[in-house]
Amino acid sequence: MQVTVLGASGRTGFHVVRLLTARGHTVRAGLRSRRRADVFRDQPGVQPVVADVTADYGELVEALKDSDVVISAIGAPDPEPESVNLVDRDGAIAAIRAAEEAGVARYVQLSAQFADSPDQGDRLVRSILLAKQISDSVLQKSALTWTIVRPGTLTDGPATGRVKAAGHLEPGRVARLDVAAVLVGVLAEPLTENRGFDVVSGDFPVSAALATLD
Ligand SMILES: NC(=O)c1ccc[n+]([C@@H]2O[C@H](COP(=O)([O-])OP(=O)(O)OC[C@H]3O[C@@H](n4cnc5c(N)ncnc54)[C@H](OP(=O)(O)O)[C@@H]3O)[C@@H](O)[C@H]2O)c1
Repeated sequence: MQVTVLGASGRTGFHVVRLLTARGHTVRAGLRSRRRADVFRDQPGVQPVVADVTADYGELVEALKDSDVVISAIGAPDPEPESVNLVDRDGAIAAIRAAEEAGVARYVQLSAQFADSPDQGDRLVRSILLAKQISDSVLQKSALTWTIVRPGTLTDGPATGRVKAAGHLEPGRVARLDVAAVLVGVLAEPLTENRGFDVVSGDFPVSAALATLD
């Protein structure tokens, strides 16, 4: 499959690209700026492409053309609401619209636990959850086959290969490496189509956790 990863230079997106190539997919690494292209210099089979979700919409559509799947792992560089609304709400929505226009079939969005009940946390947490709720909702109503992955607090710990996934879970933590495995794993699991679910660290291999979603 031809897969484009948005936010490919990010701490989760980078692992998504690596796992996709390891599984034999052809990968386009969507970057905010061409200056980050060197991140993928040593990764054969990865084509860097500029895909700033807040910039030129036509360029974004072009970047997504010929992709079977888009995986979005973007996130605002600054937690202040202005930046979050620009990237996680408006930019994420622009990316969804661009994918529709580019004829993409499947769209996988990295969201956050509690994005579907955003009235909680402090001012910054609320604004992030609300931005994600709005863009998640646009994705659900789009023409795309969608999957929304809502992880708990992300950590930089080692991959465990084991998670818990369900419609709703108690608050938890999960390694970015394991979230990357989930974002890639959904492509092989039809049960995840048109579904949103929470993910935290757990006891089940990723493929088993996805195959038994409630
Ligand atoms: N932190 C948590 O505990 C937590 C919990 C649940 C969910 N999440 C969500 O998980 C996602 C990924 O988190 P992370 O820690 O892996 O993020 P990260 O390391 O900050 O990576 C974010 C990526 O988004 C890219 N980006 C920023 N603005 C962009 C734009 N305008 N156009 C295109 N790409 C843009 C960044 O590009 P550059 O490399 O050029 O900056 C980077 O590649 C975020 O949406 C975050 O909200 C986080």
